[in-house]
Amino acid sequence: MMDDYLQKSLDLDKKDSLKSFKNRFVHSDNEIYLDGNSLGKLPKKTIEITSDLIQNQWGNRLIRSWNEHWLGLPKNLAKKIAQIVGAQEDEIFVGDSTSLNLYKLVFAALQLQKGKQKIVTDSLNFPTDLYVLQGMIANHFQNHTLEIIPSDDEISTQTNTLKKNIDKNTALLTLSAVTYKSAFRYDMIEINAIAKKNNSFVIWDLSHAAGAVPVALNKNNAEMAVGCTYKYLNGGPGAPAFLYVKKELQEKLVNPIWSWFGHEKPFDFNPNYQADSGIQKFAIGTPSILSLAAMETGLDLLLEAGIENLRKKSVQQSNFLIEMVQTELQAIGFKIASPLDEKYRGSHISLQHEEGYRINRAMIEPKENDKIIIPDFRPPNNIRLGIAPLYNSFQDLYETVVRMKKIVVEKEYENFPKEKLTVT
Ligand SMILES: Cc1ncc(COP(=O)(O)O)c(C=O)c1O
Repeated sequence: MMDDYLQKSLDLDKKDSLKSFKNRFVHSDNEIYLDGNSLGKLPKKTIEITSDLIQNQWGNRLIRSWNEHWLGLPKNLAKKIAQIVGAQEDEIFVGDSTSLNLYKLVFAALQLQKGKQKIVTDSLNFPTDLYVLQGMIANHFQNHTLEIIPSDDEISTQTNTLKKNIDKNTALLTLSAVTYKSAFRYDMIEINAIAKKNNSFVIWDLSHAAGAVPVALNKNNAEMAVGCTYKYLNGGPGAPAFLYVKKELQEKLVNPIWSWFGHEKPFDFNPNYQADSGIQKFAIGTPSILSLAAMETGLDLLLEAGIENLRKKSVQQSNFLIEMVQTELQAIGFKIASPLDEKYRGSHISLQHEEGYRINRAMIEPKENDKIIIPDFRPPNNIRLGIAPLYNSFQDLYETVVRMKKIVVEKEYENFPKEKLTVT
């Protein structure tokens, strides 16, 4: 059976119109990288761009580079991210972290929703999103309550379950458009419509969605969103995040952090604050130029490949992987912890195994001549296999299944301690 899968993987790779993109990234032939859903790979051109920036723009041109290159950089990147998430360029701000951008929008949304006291999210949301909401209530909105809807099966939350918990007292709903552990993908248009009927805001976290699935913020009537750029957008470790606010809402929302880059005329050095009237009001301080510059090539590569083409390959790859897991790995203790229906799935697949942590270690640190395979691990026992169609091949997935089978059948995981490393 595995021989058939090998042949199938080779055939699919041969037909893959995106296969040449792999060579635009730094990679090692002895390694399969399946963690693009956590930290995307380094595009080769990013090395050139950042070294030129450091040597010439910073090293030689110094302060003159602000006018020559740097001031326009965040807006230039916003234009590209807007295309990826289906928004207008003046609806995207690029900068700060996802957590900080979420904080700004949650605060602004709750201030506008005077009289409503319920905030809703679900148990599949990323911890930082839950912490931001908890902190907001503890420090600023003490009369509000947070309802964390438990997922039906720890994989998904049905739209109907959300619907039952959203009412006229709901000020705000926050969800990850694709969830970090199971890759469950919500029906964005339907959920926005339910919220709208109750005059509730929705803030979407696009961290696992941007660059992984087509996101149509405008078309789906989304009002607010945040997201990171270091996963499928290949922006680099800790790359600046982005924030989206629908044009018509921008005037009404107030950034809780008043600072000079959000001022309508920062270089007038006026002692009194006057917020910019557009999306720029969500800026805080000086843009992180080195990190912003490192982000550009990743966005360009994604736009060149085309998000629809990437999605098509991602679905083909995920379905191929699921089929191999069902026939080869389920019998030895693996369970698929992601939706089986591609419509409700992002671009990673979670597999559970009671020895998940040690299997993950064995994949990353092979003792013999096996290839290094890098997925990641999320407690209690999930191995996440991130599929980044820009640089992953079908053969990568075949070899991963072969390797996982060997690790379990030969009990190779027993070479590793149960105690976890800090970053898993
Ligand atoms: C869904 C989601 N939201 C937010 C974050 C955290 O973002 P940041 O570290 O930029 O604040 C992550 C990080 O992985 C994430 O997966």
